[in-house]
Amino acid sequence: MAQDLIAPSILSADFARLGEEVDNVLAAGADIVHFDVMDNHYVPNLTIGPLVCEALRKHGVTAPIDVHLMVKPVDRIVADFAAAGATYITFHPEASEHIDRTLQLIRNEGCRGGLVFNPATPLTYLEYVIDKLDMILLMSVNPGFGGQSFIPSALDKLRQVRQMIDASGREIRLEIDGGVKVDNIAEIKAAGADTFVSGSGIFGHRRAEDPNRYDTIIKQM
Ligand code: DX5
Ligand code: ZN
Repeated sequence: MAQDLIAPSILSADFARLGEEVDNVLAAGADIVHFDVMDNHYVPNLTIGPLVCEALRKHGVTAPIDVHLMVKPVDRIVADFAAAGATYITFHPEASEHIDRTLQLIRNEGCRGGLVFNPATPLTYLEYVIDKLDMILLMSVNPGFGGQSFIPSALDKLRQVRQMIDASGREIRLEIDGGVKVDNIAEIKAAGADTFVSGSGIFGHRRAEDPNRYDTIIKQM
């Protein structure tokens, strides 16, 4: 299996100090930056777009940026994120009119593409496009907000997708997003995930005496 990656979700970062927060989690051992894009249409919340992604690159962030699009429609924002420095671009299949075309578009723009499955979204979409994926992201909360509790049915879904990825023989990252904390990450890893998004589980642990450091919590993951 691929090397495990820790992906702090900047949704729970201090946005007034975003560059510094990202520098600090990466210095503390995080591997990739999880970037949640919400449009107040596909999900009932509004966050950040390509300008902020570009600002992180200009700030000097060289780690992969994992753009999780919770937007509808999907296609017209893809090129802007590619130009802004996205590494991965993942989207929810039900938010795209033409899933295969969107995956192709992401690749043509030079990024790695993936599909995101909400807790109740069936995996049937994978049947025809698994050979075109670099990442599969399973939501273990309903998308829209940080700080929710992990939905346990995601564990069985992880085991199913792990089998599908292994059977495909392809290098596809299996990412989990929502309610991931130090105390449940071992169980989630055992179910087959290799890429762990954690927002409140990391940024919620600013040390009172040293608010910029996340070493302790990330090392336990
Ligand atoms: C939710 C987002 C998540 C969120 C996770 O829609 O996709 O990435 O930030 O937050 P936690 O880790 O706090 O559940
Ligand atoms: Zn996310």
